[in-house]
Amino acid sequence: ILPKIWYDEEKKGADDLMIPEKDWIKDLVVYQVYPRSFCDSNGDGIGDLPGVLQKLDYLEELGVNAIWLSPVYKSPNDDNGYDIAGYQEIMEEFGTMEDWERLRDDCHRRGMKLIMDLVVNHSSDEHPWFVESSSSRDNDKADYYIWHDPVNGKEPNNWASVFGGSAWEYVPARGQYYLHLFSKKQPDLNWACPALREEIFSMMEWWVDRGVDGFRVDAISYLDKPQDFPDSPLPPQPDGYSMFGSEIAGREGTHAYIRQMGERIFRKRNVFTVGEVSVASTQELLDYVASDRDEFDMAIPFVAPVVEIHTWSPRKMKEDIWEGYRLLKDCGWWARFLSNHDKPRQVSLYGDDKEHWEVSAKMLGMLLHTLPGTPFVYQGEELGMTDVRFDSIQDYDDPDAKNRYHQMLLEGASPEEALDQARLESRDNARTPMQWDASPNGGFTTGTPWLKVNPNYKIINAAAQQGDPHSILSCYKALIALRKAHPALSRGDLERFDLPQDQLFCYRRRYQGEELLVLHNFSGEDCPLPGGLIPSRGKALLSSYDREGGWRPGSTSLRPYESVIFQLSHP
Ligand code: GLC
Ligand code: CA
Repeated sequence: ILPKIWYDEEKKGADDLMIPEKDWIKDLVVYQVYPRSFCDSNGDGIGDLPGVLQKLDYLEELGVNAIWLSPVYKSPNDDNGYDIAGYQEIMEEFGTMEDWERLRDDCHRRGMKLIMDLVVNHSSDEHPWFVESSSSRDNDKADYYIWHDPVNGKEPNNWASVFGGSAWEYVPARGQYYLHLFSKKQPDLNWACPALREEIFSMMEWWVDRGVDGFRVDAISYLDKPQDFPDSPLPPQPDGYSMFGSEIAGREGTHAYIRQMGERIFRKRNVFTVGEVSVASTQELLDYVASDRDEFDMAIPFVAPVVEIHTWSPRKMKEDIWEGYRLLKDCGWWARFLSNHDKPRQVSLYGDDKEHWEVSAKMLGMLLHTLPGTPFVYQGEELGMTDVRFDSIQDYDDPDAKNRYHQMLLEGASPEEALDQARLESRDNARTPMQWDASPNGGFTTGTPWLKVNPNYKIINAAAQQGDPHSILSCYKALIALRKAHPALSRGDLERFDLPQDQLFCYRRRYQGEELLVLHNFSGEDCPLPGGLIPSRGKALLSSYDREGGWRPGSTSLRPYESVIFQLSHP
């Protein structure tokens, strides 16, 4: 029924897409836990490891088989744990190493993998290494960080920190500046120092020895710095400093360090790896994940919320997905995600968190789970959790949002305009506490939550959706189950139909005699289906309109945010 003319390319016959020994990663469905906001077990307002443990039943029922824990290490929490003061210790607020071991064992008992966040571009300034390194110019750890003499009595160059101000901070005891690409409490580690690299590698081995199944590797594109520290050519921000760019990201030296990690740990120990990378194109992404590079299994490209919010469109999303598929289908694998702790809530960004909240949240989930690659679900997306609108900048926590707020005031914006911007971009949108039920604070804590709960928890919460077969949560469960039952979803190739309608996203997945057709309407309006795509055989397996009875046989258009998975043929 599908006219050949619509295919972008002849099928190349590559049924199996990946390196055989790592085949297991194709069957993962990863759930990202942001522990601070997941579940508080002791009423101090902060989510913790015993809280995660309490919710493993929920995760098992959802069907995910891997958990990625955002950092749980000892940290003063300048950047919510992405500033580590003890790599082999657990943050006191989160619990103890025994709690972590219990979590590991309980995950493994349930057949779930445990993936840890690995933050090794920088540490906390409260890490003992930094305390020692900053005490003098000659101590054992003197070269563990990136120190530079003043240039003309000032910072060595014009680089801005991601979170605002200069990327350099002066330390009188050394009469030198240290580099921090992120906050000044996140000094960059000096990967050029062999002793430092050894410390990191042995720390990684230590975790693998303790049963860690994989790493999500944070901000990994910046390990190697150009030793001449050239000025950034980009125009200065209102505070006078310029964001760094390609002079730091993705240098050949960084790739060499990643390959060392691979040789020492990843490959030898069959650990799963996903790198968080800063890339300007999918072509650059390939440098981190193409199988012959021996770097990561898959990558999460970082796109700043401010950029994503203003540049995304269904057309661009389709093109990016296609481009990523085309480039990697014979030599790599994909991390599939729409959300994480650095992004706005997906239903608010890509869907419609008002009139079409439920169907659009389902449609996005259906997109995520029907594309080739390993799906990553971020906590709360399975409930359709939305962005929040706090009343005051004081309610926000994200250092990035606060910096942008102040930059905007410097540029002459009014406090209301700057606050509106924070509402749009703040990473706190993803970090408001998990909405478990309709009790105060959404059942996240019996105390005062560290970040306010989204007031819509009375309507949007897990308990309300658990008993409802047509909830977003039930749709996610069905999707994960479908993926297990239909290898075409985890193993099949992707053939897209190149359509002139931007809002129509249609593709086919095929594997060993099974053929699935997936249709999405990425808009709030009805959208007629081109003749060749009106299904006339097979059966609908899942629909975002299941509450209304699902796919209406004979219909020739898709309703707003309608999404349907058809099985056209089976083996
Ligand atoms: C990554 C993390 C982000 C953090 C930054 C610095 O982008 O995802 O949350 O702020 O690295 O570690
Ligand atoms: Ca707690």
